[in-house]
Formats: sequence, structure tokens, C-alpha cells
Amino acid sequence: MATVKISNRGAQRIRRGHLWVYRSDLRDPQEAEAGAIVDAIDEAANFVGRAFYSDSSEIALRFLTTRDEPIDRDWWRTRLRNCAQRRAQIANETNAYRLVYSEADLLSSIIIDVYDGHFILQTLSQGSDRIQTELVELLVEEFGPKSITELNDARVRQLEALELRAATIYGEAPQEIEVNQQGIRFLVSPHTGQKTGAFLDQRENYLAARRVAHGRALDCFTFNGGFALHLAKVCDTLLGIDISQEAVAAARRNREMNQLTNATFEVANVFDALREMAASGERFDTIVLDPPAFTKSRATMKSGARGYKEINLRAMKLLNPGGILITCTCSYHISEAMFLDIISDAATDARRRLQIIERRGQSSDHPVLLGVPETHYLKCVIARVVE
Ligand SMILES: C[S@@+](CC[C@H](N)C(=O)[O-])C[C@H]1O[C@@H](n2cnc3c(N)ncnc32)[C@H](O)[C@@H]1O
Repeated sequence: MATVKISNRGAQRIRRGHLWVYRSDLRDPQEAEAGAIVDAIDEAANFVGRAFYSDSSEIALRFLTTRDEPIDRDWWRTRLRNCAQRRAQIANETNAYRLVYSEADLLSSIIIDVYDGHFILQTLSQGSDRIQTELVELLVEEFGPKSITELNDARVRQLEALELRAATIYGEAPQEIEVNQQGIRFLVSPHTGQKTGAFLDQRENYLAARRVAHGRALDCFTFNGGFALHLAKVCDTLLGIDISQEAVAAARRNREMNQLTNATFEVANVFDALREMAASGERFDTIVLDPPAFTKSRATMKSGARGYKEINLRAMKLLNPGGILITCTCSYHISEAMFLDIISDAATDARRRLQIIERRGQSSDHPVLLGVPETHYLKCVIARVVE
């Protein structure tokens, strides 16, 4: 096994709980192979841990362990079993959940989602790409999946100089899979849809939203109706809007499957729709805002923040007194504190007073690893308009 020396700064980062060492923190790197598992030592030659090495990405080392332990087939098996054990309760409640969440499960750059026994695998670094065959064998041995599809078309793989590819590599995967979330049926399309088929990270927020939703509801950025169909169960009427025709078609189909007659879905740009609804004096009792990430880097944070403020301000103006706002950001770069500031600014400009009922994050199958802030990206704030 090759040994890679890292700066004391890099070693300290790992000892404080992070799992990444950047290329700038490598010291006199020896020849390590792309994707190999290497030993990392600090400047005084103390052992720091074992990590995937990348010869391309700025993230040069992704740590798998800080223990001096062999990383063999049994090691991978144990890590996968641990992931499944942590999600045993979730798997009792729904058949669509994230089985492995990368760094947060100490399996850096590996993501596995499960849809009714069909596994969707992403290996997003040279290291995880290199062990993919072994991972697939272990998944088959441990969990007996109906199929395994690799969805390795994410652009981050280009930073690792890896090809983009997507294919079913075990069993047979249907184009569409029916899943059940909290008693609601959804058809998901991992092969063609957004994310790996569904926004599994919002599953528990659907339930939180449903607890307080009422009256006339609006779900902005509805996708295939995740929030919408949960809210339609408890609201008088529900309107879901999305800019994507395919998303709206999927939401309508899901509505039919659940025989929810009080829900309608329309193709629209949320920015325009909110403006037009305000102009025509429309009012709602519940509004969901779950936009795509408006900023994916520090450089675009200001314009991203403006986008969040605009939709929140417009939604607040449309809410009746006592109305509920469920507002989300999936931008890692917008911290919870920043998001609350944006919401507060929007309330000031909208001349509304809001009380925060809940501050939430990703569903518990997407845990946040302390020491790795990058694992915390989704923020969901539930607020009530008090006047
Ligand atoms: C984060 S996803 C929403 C996920 C959804 N709420 C769920 O729980 O499944 C963002 C959605 O916003 C849609 N979208 C992006 N820009 C939009 C816009 N300007 N107006 C309306 N929809 C938009 C995308 O098509 C995508 O479906």
C-alpha cells in the first residue's frame, strides 16, 4: 500500500473529524495509483488514516478510516451492514430511502438509494469507482436486490477524470418503479428523472408539513408531487406548479394513482406565477417553496440569496393570516442562519410577522456527519404568519 504524507494542517483537519484532504495539503507525494487506498501520514510520519487517493480531484484524499485496520472485503461488508441497521426503522415505514449516504456513513463518495428493492448506486470518486465491482457483489450477497443500476452520470465524476455512464449492472430494472411513502403511491423514474428518481431527502419534511397544512394550498416547485400529494390529504384544495412538463405529467399521474381529486398541477415558472397570483388577489393558507439550489458556489451566493428572498417575500404576501409557509433551500452555501436572515428580510419587506414553528433538515436517512459540514445541505423552515 502506498503512503502519502500530508501537511500537519491536513492531518489536523482529519483529526477534527473531516474526511477530506485537499491536494495543496499533500507533501512530497509518492507515486500512488489513481483510486488506490493509501496510508496517510503526517509530517512527523505518524499514521493519520487510510483513504481513497485521487490523482485528479482537488480532494486528493477521502478518508475511510483513522484506525490502523485492513480495508478488505469484510470491512466493506460491515460498513454496508451498519448502514442497513441504522435504517431498519425507516425501511419498515417506506420502501424508498437512502441506504448509504457517502461521507455521513463513513463511505466517502458512495451513494445508494433503494426503490422497492431496486438499488441505484453512485460511485463518485476514483476510489469508489475502482471498488464498484466488489461493492455490487457485496450488495447482492447482503441484500438480494431486485436490480442494481449505476447512475454515474453526475458531473462531479468529471473532476475525478471518470467517464459518465449509467446502466443496469445487475438484474432487471423497470423504467418506472412504484414506491410507497407514508401510504402515498409514487411512480419514480430513476433512469430519466431528477436526482435518483425522487427527493428522498424531503420525505420526513412531507410529514411535518402535513401536520400543519390546511385550507387552500400551493406547492411551488412540486416535481412529481412529493409535498403536494401529502398536503392534498389534509387540505381543501392543492395546486402544484413546476416549470418542467415531465415533472407535472408525473405529478398528475401520481395524483391519479392516489385518487386525489382535490389536487391540480400546472406547468409554470414560479417567479411569474407568484407575481400573477398577487396581481389577481389570490390567497392561500399553506404554501411550500422547495426550489432547486439557487447557488452552487460561493461566487453566486448573493444572486442566490436574492432569488430566495424574492420567492419568500411573494409567498408571504399571498398567505392568509394564520397561513403556513414551508420554505426550503438545498444550497449547501446558504447556512441555516443565512436562510433565517433571508426569511426575516422577506417578512420585513412583505410587512408580515411570522413565527417559526420548526427548523428542519434532511430526512434521517441523509444524516449529517459532525465535522463534515458539507453533509448538511438541506434546510426546511416551517413558519406561521401571525399577522
Ligand atoms: C428541489 S426540486 C423540488 C422537489 C419536490 N418539492 C419534491 O419534494 O419532490 C426543484 C423543482 O423545481 C423545478 N423548477 C426549477 N426552476 C423552476 C421555476 N423557475 N419555476 C418552477 N419550477 C422550477 C424543477 O423542475 C424541479 O422539479
